[in-house]
Amino acid sequence: MSTEFTRQINPQPATDEVRAAVLENPGFGQHFTDHMVCIDWQGDVQKGTGSWDNARIQPYGPLSLDPSTSVLHYGQEIFEGLKAYRHQDGSVWSFRPEANAARLNRSAQRLALPALPEETFVDAVRELVRVDEAWVPSGEGESLYLRPFMIGTEPFLGVRPSKQALFSVIASPAGNYFGTVEPVDIWLSDTWARAGKGGTGAAKCGGNYAASLIAQLEGDAHGCSQVLFLDPEREGAVEELGGMNVFFVFDDNRLVTPELTGTILEGITRDSVLKLARDRGMQVEERAFTLDEWREGKRSGRLTEVFACGTAAVIAPVRRLLSHDEVIGSEDERPGEVTMAIRRQLLDVQTGRAEDTHGWLTRL
Ligand code: PLP
Ligand code: COI
Repeated sequence: MSTEFTRQINPQPATDEVRAAVLENPGFGQHFTDHMVCIDWQGDVQKGTGSWDNARIQPYGPLSLDPSTSVLHYGQEIFEGLKAYRHQDGSVWSFRPEANAARLNRSAQRLALPALPEETFVDAVRELVRVDEAWVPSGEGESLYLRPFMIGTEPFLGVRPSKQALFSVIASPAGNYFGTVEPVDIWLSDTWARAGKGGTGAAKCGGNYAASLIAQLEGDAHGCSQVLFLDPEREGAVEELGGMNVFFVFDDNRLVTPELTGTILEGITRDSVLKLARDRGMQVEERAFTLDEWREGKRSGRLTEVFACGTAAVIAPVRRLLSHDEVIGSEDERPGEVTMAIRRQLLDVQTGRAEDTHGWLTRL
């Protein structure tokens, strides 16, 4: 049964001129559409009771929270990221939204927040995109980035799961995350980890990103747009970047990516890349991958390409790994053939230019 949403239309939406100016050069995450979704929950996660009520579309705008609200103190917050794409015939589609809904619920379980029915998640995304459809860009590489999130909203200072929650979806027109598809340098965080065994690494929760920012600052100071994190318990084992998973292409048609150990995020782009690579006849390996192997692969020339992937940034070729002690890779690295072919393949499915053989698209 689909969720019923009430609609409170924004009496002061952006003018056509303002919206056109934003869509001309959307950037990433700087401009928001006229509306948002909100759904309230009350219940008790421990007892497994509760209900989601008052599903609504309302004007985009500030949330009013009591200063004692639990999310402000103990960080009960989770989020998702997915995109809506306009196809050539004008129709709008999202990519594997049910996978985001399922991951939100895995994050919710880890953060002691309530589960949201998967169909409510997809309905919420559809409602918002329908009311703000004029904000879906149509340019090459552009999309409407959707940011569903959930917070504990109970005003209460005791340390226990919140008995109230808010699920919301906001939307932001998006261009290319890095501005170009030129290869990016990444910084090795050899001081800080973002996750550890038994922690929240596999959940998409705000706290993981807060913990990664100090490393990001260090990366920025060295001209790197992303940071690579290692597993602190397995010497030199590569995990993921601050907001992307990472892949290694070898000259014998092999594609290697760190396996899911519970400390990295199970990327939906990662999973899609693995499937597309298998479709291309590549041998795919999900396993531990160490810095030694990276170094040796580059030295021998057998490691031919490195790339990172995620919803926001799609697929980005990696040029060099920089750290306090060394540089792996060379300055004149060009975007690799396999990287760019998989990127093209993924974007073609998302934008309706290639056949959706895996059934990944949902019409909004
Ligand atoms: N890893 C982290 C830490 C992320 O924030 C993201 C982005 O969502 C990813 C990986 C890639 O996940 P996805 O492909 O589902 O966007
Ligand atoms: C995404 O790719 O959707 C992300 O969430 C990464 C980043 C913007 C936090």
